[in-house]
Amino acid sequence: MKRLAKSSFGTILRVSWNSQMSTVCTTSPYQLVGRSHRELLRINADKRLRQSSNLTCSTSHTPQRLLDVAGHNTNVKVLRDSSDSCKKRSKMDRDPASDQLKKYKEKMEHKKSPDSQIATNLFGQTNRKGEPPVLLTGAGNPIANKMASLTVGPRGPILLQDSVFIDELSHFSRERIPERVVHAKGAGAFGYFEVTHNISKYSKAKVFAGVGKRTPIAVRFSTVGGESGSADTVRDPRGFAVKFYTEEGIWDLVGNNTPIFFIKDPLFFPSFIHTQKRNPVTHLKDPDMFWDFLSLRPESLHQVLFLFADRGIPDGYRHMNGYGSHTFKLVNDRNEMVYCKFHYKTDQGIKNLLAQKAADLSSTDPDYSIRDLYNAIAQGQNPSWTFSIQVMTPKQAETFRWNPFDLTKIWPHKEFPLIPVGRLVLNRNPENYFMDVEQVAFNPAHMVPGIEPSPDKMLQGRLFAYGDTHRHRLGANYLQLPVNCPYKVMSAMNYQRDGPMAYHNQNGAPNYYPNSFGGPKECPAALAPSFQVSGDIDRYEPVNEDNYTQATEFWRNVLDADAKTRLVDNIVDHIRHASNFIIERALKQFIKVDADLGRRLTEGLRKYGKATGFSANL
Ligand code: HEM
Repeated sequence: MKRLAKSSFGTILRVSWNSQMSTVCTTSPYQLVGRSHRELLRINADKRLRQSSNLTCSTSHTPQRLLDVAGHNTNVKVLRDSSDSCKKRSKMDRDPASDQLKKYKEKMEHKKSPDSQIATNLFGQTNRKGEPPVLLTGAGNPIANKMASLTVGPRGPILLQDSVFIDELSHFSRERIPERVVHAKGAGAFGYFEVTHNISKYSKAKVFAGVGKRTPIAVRFSTVGGESGSADTVRDPRGFAVKFYTEEGIWDLVGNNTPIFFIKDPLFFPSFIHTQKRNPVTHLKDPDMFWDFLSLRPESLHQVLFLFADRGIPDGYRHMNGYGSHTFKLVNDRNEMVYCKFHYKTDQGIKNLLAQKAADLSSTDPDYSIRDLYNAIAQGQNPSWTFSIQVMTPKQAETFRWNPFDLTKIWPHKEFPLIPVGRLVLNRNPENYFMDVEQVAFNPAHMVPGIEPSPDKMLQGRLFAYGDTHRHRLGANYLQLPVNCPYKVMSAMNYQRDGPMAYHNQNGAPNYYPNSFGGPKECPAALAPSFQVSGDIDRYEPVNEDNYTQATEFWRNVLDADAKTRLVDNIVDHIRHASNFIIERALKQFIKVDADLGRRLTEGLRKYGKATGFSANL
């Protein structure tokens, strides 16, 4: 038991689920953890905390002060030349990440691995320091020779009884699962969330309970539109998804590096994404598809400006902010609620890449952001983010001049200031990319008592979409995977059983409800407060909604003169590839944001022989 507790998270879970666990049934399902399992989890949590508390953040805390009306940080530092880490790299002979195998060997030379001990006992191999473990098939059978397949004579055909060969090839053929339909390229890491300020008056969620409290987290950063092999430094929003392993189960905050989004009705999401991906006939990105859709949906303007401004290409994942983006509800222990938005601001400072530099990196180092994150954590420069909330009372929501549940709008910070809550720290790299990052599955529907959805239509759509896609991408039992499971509350949890790759049999508890045999009981304390809704059922298109004011604010008051020039250049460079009628429609939208923006875009396009007929209307 001692040895296993020291091994990886995955091992602990495997062992604990197979071990005999006594189920102590009480009123809360969160207390239904068997003793032996609980011990293992405590050892694991202690280990993580020890790791975490030994590490100090190498960057000073510089919470980004917002001057803005529109909620966008103006402290934008654009690297004119090349990024810091890129400069560093060019001076280095070798990327430190390339030493991973050397480090493995050094580690093995300094300690006997548990695997080699087991192998020694079973197969009588010597077990000297540095001796590699015995080579085994997936079923654990020793392999005598892996240098040649089993054939009839040196040139002969292979025998069907070569189970070593069959084991090897058939596993290889199954090494891939479907990539994410969006956000396919990404990087992940582990760490903790630490509470720095008490917000119990807003939320009863235990993850926020007590200043100094730490909760383990997994984070995945991503680009959106590209495939899993695509370049990191493209102009695209960045995903910033955080999984909190709380004592009330998993809380997934699945956000982006932008406080807003392109659309406000989830029915458009598949179409919107199609336009950002490849044309199904040519298998190429298609500027007509891209600009046709966006120019037909003016609610996208705010996010389009953000995307083509400097923050559209962050310099890696450490130098960008994250936002829960949606409006959520927080509920306290008196069942009083406020609406809330989550912000996580980089303590490393904002840094972005210029378009040309980003294009160069796309060819010279397509994995730039993964590499940057991995090396930073490996070198102990643990990146961190200051975590805050904005809150709006239900009364304020009734009179707010915009729909507070409209994802294309921010809540102005002057009216709804940031309230500090804590910080996110990343201090551990994945042990295996596939196991820890490809298989990690975030779901906005995973919420804990004290955090609830608002009526935001986009959020409502997402509450369905993620569980659905995970069951397709990873299988029905994806929540049993070590990286996804709510390991702090694993016990006899519910009445779900079996299905592909099931290995949590819930300690033999009954698989039906109600029952007379001590199966898991409901937890009335987790009941969400009721709320009223009314209205006629219909399909409500967003007619006469203000799609321009916040975009105008962004153009006029958030960007300085140089940033405006870069924004215009970036849009011109992209939209010039679209058909003229689409360009003209898009220009009409940009003019509604600001006449000066429209004029400058028109002038820029004229250099490419585009939009010439339209200029007369300006
Ligand atoms: C109705 C709107 C949306 C739908 C239907 C949708 C759907 C999806 C789907 C199917 C995935 C792939 C998940 C997987 O295979 O693991 C995904 C990933 C993701 N989505 Fe959305 N999405 C929507 C809007 C948004 C918004 C508004 C945000 C941010 C505020 C967002 C952030 C993300 C992130 C960060 C990921 C990657 C998670 C990871 O790293 O595994 N999505 N989305």
